[in-house]
Amino acid sequence: MDHVNRVALIGTGAVGSSYAFALLNQGVADELVMIDVNKRKSEGDAMDLNHGLAFTPANKKIWFGNYEDCEDAALVVITAGVNQKPGETRLDLLEKNTAIYKTIVESVMASGFDGLFIVATNPVDILSYMTWEFSGLPAHRVIGSGTILDTARLRFKLSEYFGIDTRNVHAYIIGEHGDSELPVWSHANVAGRSVFDRVHDHPDQYNVKDLEGIFDLVKDAAYHIIERKGATHYGIAMGLVRLTKAILHNEHAVLTVSAYVHGQYAVDDLYIGVPAIVNREGIKEVIELDLDPNESEKFRESAALLKNTMDPVLH
Ligand code: LAC
Repeated sequence: MDHVNRVALIGTGAVGSSYAFALLNQGVADELVMIDVNKRKSEGDAMDLNHGLAFTPANKKIWFGNYEDCEDAALVVITAGVNQKPGETRLDLLEKNTAIYKTIVESVMASGFDGLFIVATNPVDILSYMTWEFSGLPAHRVIGSGTILDTARLRFKLSEYFGIDTRNVHAYIIGEHGDSELPVWSHANVAGRSVFDRVHDHPDQYNVKDLEGIFDLVKDAAYHIIERKGATHYGIAMGLVRLTKAILHNEHAVLTVSAYVHGQYAVDDLYIGVPAIVNREGIKEVIELDLDPNESEKFRESAALLKNTMDPVLH
């Protein structure tokens, strides 16, 4: 069914309202309906954003609505839920956010929604699986933000280190969006040369140990931001807009998102961060990289952690 380019946003907290702001300023989507239990705040956000419309690339319809408005949406983006407090891991949020998600997804489906879900709440890989379960939609139409932000963080840090534009730095983070994620150094390249070749080309400037330090900063980035400002929201919001654009504009873009794997990377029946081709239909294809033995082992460990955490809640 061909939907209007309507996005229904569930949750207008820090991440949701930052997403709404970025979506409108980048001119993505034609309609944005905002839904939240905190009606007054959501209403205020819709009013505030409407007043800025004259400054954005194209006219949009923005309103504070309810679950019935999901029926004609192309995309439902869920950012609602509790977020990490200092010292908490993303997996610690599972119990609370699973209950919230069950209510949300059932309410969305009751509207007659038959578009795509984007899941952003942590633990995003497991909540993506839950959304697939609760919605009954085909797996390719439920996509988690996964490691889209982690990959952007890695590209930023490598760009800073090598002094080369981020757009010429290609490197992926895959696995859990969390402490067990891993960098795919074997396929990381800067200006078309492997990062290791670039390091070896300039031994006076670069060394491999620095790359490990860069990955640690990427993996722990959220903790460093949370201890400073209490939450992260701009980076993830911009990643969600990137994913929204890839879907609504049918881009066939390769992004590291939380996608359903069934045999790829020797992992089955799980949502996990992998490079995937994203288009209007959702996940067109999971890209199966040729990982080196160390990367394969770390990916399997990450998948096992997600499965062992999810199974007790699922069954
Ligand atoms: C972060 C949140 C989105 O990594 O998990 O900033």
